[in-house]
Amino acid sequence: MKLGTKFIHAGVEPDPTTGAIMTPIYQTSTYVQEAPAQHKGYEYARSQNPTRTALEAAFAAIENGKYGLAFSSGVAATDAVIKLLKPGDEVIAGSDMYGGTYRLFSKVFEKFGIKFHYINMQDANSIRQYVNGNTKLIWIETPTNPLMNITDIAAVSAIAREAKALLCVDNTFASPYLQNPLDLGADIVMHSVTKYLGGHSDVIQGCLMMNDKTLREQLYFLQKSCGAVPGPQDCFLVLRGIKTLHVRMQRHCENGKTIAHYLRNHSKVSRVYWCGFEDHPNYEIAKKQMRDFGGMMSFTLKDDSVNTAKKVLSSTKLFALAESLGGVESLINHPASMTHASIPREERLKNGLTDSLIRLSVGIEDVDDLIEDLNQAIG
Ligand SMILES: Cc1ncc(COP(=O)(O)O)c(C=O)c1O
Repeated sequence: MKLGTKFIHAGVEPDPTTGAIMTPIYQTSTYVQEAPAQHKGYEYARSQNPTRTALEAAFAAIENGKYGLAFSSGVAATDAVIKLLKPGDEVIAGSDMYGGTYRLFSKVFEKFGIKFHYINMQDANSIRQYVNGNTKLIWIETPTNPLMNITDIAAVSAIAREAKALLCVDNTFASPYLQNPLDLGADIVMHSVTKYLGGHSDVIQGCLMMNDKTLREQLYFLQKSCGAVPGPQDCFLVLRGIKTLHVRMQRHCENGKTIAHYLRNHSKVSRVYWCGFEDHPNYEIAKKQMRDFGGMMSFTLKDDSVNTAKKVLSSTKLFALAESLGGVESLINHPASMTHASIPREERLKNGLTDSLIRLSVGIEDVDDLIEDLNQAIG
């Protein structure tokens, strides 16, 4: 199946009881059994729910995986992956990644004896020096949030295989429309479904996709034992969101490209971070592993002061000042005080995430209106 057909039909069958073409919202907490342990495969809705089952099949299909698991948020999905580990195990993760992932690793899991190395992953080979007998997981985000750095997934997957460690890729920024990490050798793909998969800024959800049956069983055990499952209404909304992923992403990419070039040519803009520029340090890798470059970008102003940045952030009318990304509407964000505030300032600065950095999630509105809005805000 080609991409568009897959996004519309993936994993979804007409409802077996009525033939309803759209998977119904099974709003139930439990299922009646004919006799003890005699049931239709559904016992209790933390463990199984038919709306979630349909969505999990769709998740698997859109990432070319065998299995999908849905969680109540992106961080809940990440949490399940780290719970595969035990005290003494080590993780190699990117130094430039979503602040909430860093917070979960450093503030929640470090105290349970899991060691995290945060490193620059733009050159995959630099990972090797951190690999040792305790390395059990390599965690990458590409493109990174918010600096749009690119990591070579196939190269890291070869290193993970040699180290007998798992590779998990946070594919939130790219979405399965742009990039499929399982095809490049990753063991697990993670998404904040809240973003492009949901697509309409109305759901918090996360997911994991994988090919290995044992890994699926371990993660399913954690999903039901720890209980961070999404409700059926949210699953329904995401099933609907996925059906338009390709048309939305196509427009996100077109608008993203236009706005990235507009910003780059703006006299008051200093630097634009977008992985579709031919002079982006890892453009060749991005081109190799992505189908297009998406609508996420960050920029700094020539007047590199926090106050000027804050003025721009407060002056847009169409770009809403809000955390999150990947919805149909455009958002503007100040990573230092919003999405990445949980990363200590010195750490942020070391990675190039300055106090004046502005991040855009370019939506699918008419691009001329978006440019007019940025023009009046930047001045
Ligand atoms: C790249 C990335 N990963 C993970 C997450 C966490 O997902 P959620 O907010 O759905 O828990 C986010 C949220 O912004 C994100 O941007």
